[in-house]
Amino acid sequence: MSLITLGIESSCDETGIALYQMGRGLLAHTLHTQVAMHSEYGGVVPELASRDHVRRVIPLVRQVMREADVSLAQISAIAYTQGPGLGGALLVGASVANALAYALDIPSIGIHHLEGHLLSPLLSDPAPEFPFVALLVSGGHTQLMRVDGIGQYTLLGETLDDAAGEAFDKSAKLLGLGYPGGPELAKLAARGRPGLYKLPRPMLHSGDLEFSFSGLKTAVLTLVKQSSNDEQKIMDEQTRADIACAVQEAIVDVLANKSRAALAQTGLDQLVVAGGVGANKLLRERLNKDIGKRGGKVFYPDLEFCTDNGAMIAFAGALRLAQQPGKKDYRFNVKPRWNLAESAAS
Ligand code: KG4
Ligand code: ZN
Repeated sequence: MSLITLGIESSCDETGIALYQMGRGLLAHTLHTQVAMHSEYGGVVPELASRDHVRRVIPLVRQVMREADVSLAQISAIAYTQGPGLGGALLVGASVANALAYALDIPSIGIHHLEGHLLSPLLSDPAPEFPFVALLVSGGHTQLMRVDGIGQYTLLGETLDDAAGEAFDKSAKLLGLGYPGGPELAKLAARGRPGLYKLPRPMLHSGDLEFSFSGLKTAVLTLVKQSSNDEQKIMDEQTRADIACAVQEAIVDVLANKSRAALAQTGLDQLVVAGGVGANKLLRERLNKDIGKRGGKVFYPDLEFCTDNGAMIAFAGALRLAQQPGKKDYRFNVKPRWNLAESAAS
């Protein structure tokens, strides 16, 4: 029987667990999201996140094993998110993974969270083929990478300040929306009228593949202040929707233009979109249209694998282990800050 890898993701506010078997695919996966717990505070509270991972991880591992009808003895390796992310949250997944791997006498492997996102479109059918360009757009990262194979990642450009997801989240907060802001803002924007407000497209014409989103947040703040009724400090619903629409347009416009430029620069014709912002409908429409027009093709993970999940970690672990047998060395550390191009070389 071919290898079964257990994947554990705990880098932020989601506990994701999955079992992946080479040759058969995903056997089972599950996710517990802490969104309801953190929404009271308007963002992730790291200490609460760690404590919740502690409570969830073992029951969720048991759940996927039950669903897949897999026993502990059948698990051949354990992959976990080693970074980047919240230190305490990462430590929960890393310690459970290594303790269990030690007890079972099987290898453990630390996976870069973004490598998980980057490879997740390979779980879908049709899957892209190497080489391709990846647009990684999450709450903490905005990067364009050239991907030549497993572990062969070259950074083409990235954000100099805020990530695209952060721009969505911060703008959503300014519009009085809940956390996480991206999906909420997209929902509100659907009722907005396009083109009523013009927001800046930072670095759109910079001639390189770098991004900057912090100026957008300031422009949204100014717009919100200008549009608020001075006495009551409230905007009417339509104005909020119109501004949300302008924010989404601006972010999508920059992401789509830079992605097209990355394909032109590398001479490649496949774009893979990964990370939570990849769930955005307008972004998908724009990329399909812009890149399709030039004969290119865009690949997305299934919606449930766009945001954080355990499947991408089990899958990336299985691919890594197929390349290189894992180590039975259970000393571990976590890397809250970790550069993907560096991780590939290590
Ligand atoms: O990859 P992810 O789940 O977690 C990180 O690793 O950061 O990405 C979360 C980010 C958040 O900023 C969230 O607001 C954004 O993805 N997001 C969206 C949408 N769904 C999630 N942004 C825009 N539109 C969406 N539909
Ligand atoms: Zn993520």
